[in-house]
Amino acid sequence: MTAHRFGGNHTKIKLEVVRLYIDFYTRVLKKQPFKLIYVDPFAGSGDCEIKISAKRKDINTIDAFENTEHEPSLTNTTTIDGSAKIALNIDRLFDEYHFVEENVKRYEQLESLKAKHSDKVIHLYKGDANQKLLKILQQVNWKNTRAIIFIDPYGMETEWETLVAIANTKAVDLWYLFPLSGVYRQAANNYDSMDKGKIEAINRMLGTDEWQTTFYESKQGDMFGSEPLLQRTADIDDIVRFTQERLSSIFAKVPEPKLLPDTGPVMFALFFAVANPRAASISLRGANHIIKHMKLR
Ligand SMILES: C[S@@+](CC[C@H](N)C(=O)[O-])C[C@H]1O[C@@H](n2cnc3c(N)ncnc32)[C@H](O)[C@@H]1O
Repeated sequence: MTAHRFGGNHTKIKLEVVRLYIDFYTRVLKKQPFKLIYVDPFAGSGDCEIKISAKRKDINTIDAFENTEHEPSLTNTTTIDGSAKIALNIDRLFDEYHFVEENVKRYEQLESLKAKHSDKVIHLYKGDANQKLLKILQQVNWKNTRAIIFIDPYGMETEWETLVAIANTKAVDLWYLFPLSGVYRQAANNYDSMDKGKIEAINRMLGTDEWQTTFYESKQGDMFGSEPLLQRTADIDDIVRFTQERLSSIFAKVPEPKLLPDTGPVMFALFFAVANPRAASISLRGANHIIKHMKLR
């Protein structure tokens, strides 16, 4: 079997956070009269091959990310269970599992995984995560169902409308690996050098164009009378704060995210978002406990 290749130390960490949260969630909810479902819209193959870095410099700035000199030297590769396998291997069963994957090979591997778990109700969807997830969310009766959704894209694929639909269920606990590196790669230092495609990609992910006034400031032109420039002044913390505020505008609770990898240049923000206002405190307690236990920055 070919292992799905991606990620590094941050992959292990995010998967461990999600594993611990599934364990917590199924334990807490098992005595309640809800149907429990697990939804993984960027499911992968079930296996993932990760590269573990031998050396990392402890730098936490946008500049460092863009400077290849600071890239970690990568040595060992190892195969670990991906999110689909992790969810299927947790002792306490979900009533249903929904996995979406657009890559044909990985989808076929999910089919094999499904065959090995014939005791479980597993739904597979081949295609785009946003479209398929909207359909899944529409089919569920959210009055008697609770769900964990793990959004784990490679980059900026997750659309704001998808997040709105998740929040509207008022019944989902969401883990969302937000691609900070993708945003600051697309959001060029000089606004005028950004093409329409890049601007629209950020708009689609954040559901607004207000990031433009938050991330950019007009700077004086030079002494020869050139036009003022719109320059990015937002640093990584500003981007994280803006995203947290956006998510908080639709979810009941969104604590500060964990930044990943745990050392070296920051590439992702692992957000936790609770859609159900009445269950927010218990969900947050579980998530905070896990984050503390993992000693993440
Ligand atoms: C970072 S990997 C997720 C890995 C998975 N969570 C795991 O732990 O094994 C992202 C996955 O999403 C898939 N993908 C990327 N864009 C997609 C899209 N628009 N719709 C569905 N799947 C997509 C990729 O093929 C890849 O398998």
